[in-house]
Amino acid sequence: MCGIVGIIGSTSVQSSIIEALEKLEYRGYDSAGIATISENEILCRRSVGKLSCLKNELSNAPVLGKIGIGHTRWATHGAPSIDNAHPHQVGKVALVHNGIIENYNELKAQIISEGGIMVSETDTEVVAAFCNMFLESGMSPEEAVSSTLGQLKGAYALCFIFEGNEDLIIAARKGSPLVVGWGVEEMFVGSDAIALAHLTNQLTYVEEENYVVISRKEAKFFNFEGKEQPSKKVFVNSESVLVTKSGYRHFMHKEINEQASVISYALGSYTSFDRKRILLPNQIPSFAKMDRLIISACGTAFLAGHVAKYWFEKISGLPSDIDIASEFRYREPIISKKTGAIFVSQSGETADTLAALRMAKSNSIETIVVVNSENSTMARESDIIMPIKAGVEVGVASTKAFTSQLLVLAALVIEAARQRKKISPKQEEEFINQLFAIPRLINEVLSRENEIINICSELANAQDILFIARGPLYPLALEGALKLKEISYIHAEGYAAGELKHGPIALVDSSVPIICFAPSNILYDKTTSNIHEVIARGGKVILVSDKGGLSDFKGDVWKSFEMPFSEPFILPILYALPAQLLAYYSAIEKGTDVDQPRNLAKSVTVE
Ligand code: F6R
Repeated sequence: MCGIVGIIGSTSVQSSIIEALEKLEYRGYDSAGIATISENEILCRRSVGKLSCLKNELSNAPVLGKIGIGHTRWATHGAPSIDNAHPHQVGKVALVHNGIIENYNELKAQIISEGGIMVSETDTEVVAAFCNMFLESGMSPEEAVSSTLGQLKGAYALCFIFEGNEDLIIAARKGSPLVVGWGVEEMFVGSDAIALAHLTNQLTYVEEENYVVISRKEAKFFNFEGKEQPSKKVFVNSESVLVTKSGYRHFMHKEINEQASVISYALGSYTSFDRKRILLPNQIPSFAKMDRLIISACGTAFLAGHVAKYWFEKISGLPSDIDIASEFRYREPIISKKTGAIFVSQSGETADTLAALRMAKSNSIETIVVVNSENSTMARESDIIMPIKAGVEVGVASTKAFTSQLLVLAALVIEAARQRKKISPKQEEEFINQLFAIPRLINEVLSRENEIINICSELANAQDILFIARGPLYPLALEGALKLKEISYIHAEGYAAGELKHGPIALVDSSVPIICFAPSNILYDKTTSNIHEVIARGGKVILVSDKGGLSDFKGDVWKSFEMPFSEPFILPILYALPAQLLAYYSAIEKGTDVDQPRNLAKSVTVE
C-alpha cells in the first residue's frame, strides 16, 4: 500500500515522477504528492484524490528541480487530506513512506515534549521530525537517517531528500519492498520494477533491513549497522513490466480476457514436452515425506488455496489445512517436522502472507510460494518458488492471477499425487489432458459474455446477493461474492450450499438474487435440492451450470448461464470466469471505478 518513488535526474524530474506514480497508483490512490529541490529549496505539492488531481495542481504550479520524490497514498493513519498526504517535510528533510510506523505515538509524544509541532495525523511525520532533529544536532544526512531508523518499529520503505543537497537520496527498507534503478548520470528508486520500467531496465532489489545512499552516479547499499553490502544488478525485460490497456476499457477486462493465453503459457512451463508428466520449473517439493500441508494466503489468493485443499486431500491424499494468513500467524498452529507449507500471493509482498511464511520458516519446515512477482520478497525468502507466470496484473481485483494460481496449484497436486503413489502414469496424463482443455473452455465462456451483460443489467439493482456452491466450487462462491463486493459495492456473501438452511436462508426473499454454481457432477442433486429450498421461499435464482445441468433442473429459475461441460478437476478454474464477469459487468452497470475501487489497494504491505 502506498507507492513511493525517488529520482535524481539529469533534467527536470517532475514528469518522470508523475509517470512513475501513474504506474504505482494500483498501490493506493486517495491522495498524492511530489517534492523536488530547486535552487537548494524543497518545493512540495500535495493533493487529495487520484493522481489526476495532483497533475491539475502541477499544471498550475509546476515544481522545478533535477531531484525529487513522489507518493501515492492508501491511508492507514489519518484520513485522506492535504496535511496527511506525503511528502512530509520537517525543516530540511522531506520524505515519502510506504508502511506503518508502529511506535509513532511514543515518538510523537517525545517530539511534542521537546517543543516540536506535528501538523498531520500520520505515523510518517515523526520520521521526518526525528531525521530533522538529528540533522540539526550536526549529523550528516546519512548519520541522521541511520539514527532515525534506529528509533522506528514497524514496516517501511522510506525515501528521503535533504534541502541544500541536489545529489542525494537516501532510501531504506524494512518489511516493505524497494528497488533501485540505474541510469546514465541518473538514478531511480521506487516501490517496484513497474514504477521504473519507463526509466531503466537495470535494477537492484534492496535487501531487507538495508538502506541505500544514492547520488547521480551511483548507489551504495548498507545494512542497518552501517556496514556496506554487496549489491547485484538484474536486467529486466521492460516489455514484461510495461503495461497498457491494449484497447480494453479497463485493465480488469483485459486481464479476464488474457486468461486463456496466460494459462497456456504456464502449462507449457509446468508439463513435459509430450504432455505426459508434470515438470516443475524449479526445485521439487518433498510431498512424499510430508504428513500434513498448510496452505496460507489472503483474499483471492486464499480462495485459490482453499480450492487446493480440496484437491490435495482428494487427489494426493495429503491432509491439508487452509488458513487466512493473518489468522495463521497468531493461532499457534501445530507444526511438525513433516509439515509442508504453501503460500499463495500475486504480489509476493502481502504483509500477512509474508509474516506467515517467515513464521513457517522459523519452524524449519519446507516452504513453497506460488507467486506472480518472481523478484518479490516472498519469492526470495521461500525455499521453493512456483511462479504463476501471469504477467503484470494491474486491476485491483485479481483475475488472471487467481486462475493461474489454481493452475500451478493443480500441477503441484498432480506432482504430490505421483510422489505419494496415489495416481498411475496414465492418470497423470489424463489430469494433464484436462488441464490442456482449459484455454479452449475459457474462450468458450468468454464468447458468451453478452449473456452476462444482460444478466447484470438487472442483477446490479440488487442490494444483496448470495452465491452458493458445493465442494471445490464452494471457494468459487466465496470468490464470486468477494469480487462483486469489491468492485460493484453490492453486498454479497458466499455460502456452502448445504449451509444455507442453517441461518442465511432467513435472508432470502424476492429481492435477493442467489447465484448458484451447480455443474452436473456428483454434487448436482444435493446442490439443486438447496436451490429448490431457495425457490420455495421466493428467492430469485441465477443458475450457472452446463447444458445437462440446466436442462435437468426442474424448477423456475430467474436467469441462467450455460457453461461448457468439463471434467470435475478443472471446474474451479472455469467457474472463476462467470464469477469475474458477473462482478465486472455489475460494476459497469453501477458506474463504479473498476480498476481502482474505493478503499482498496492492490499490494497490501501493511498488517
Ligand atoms: C481481490 C484481491 C485481494 C488479493 C489479496 C492478496 O480481488 O485481489 O483479495 O488477492 O490482497 O494479495 P496477494 O495475492 O498479492 O498476496
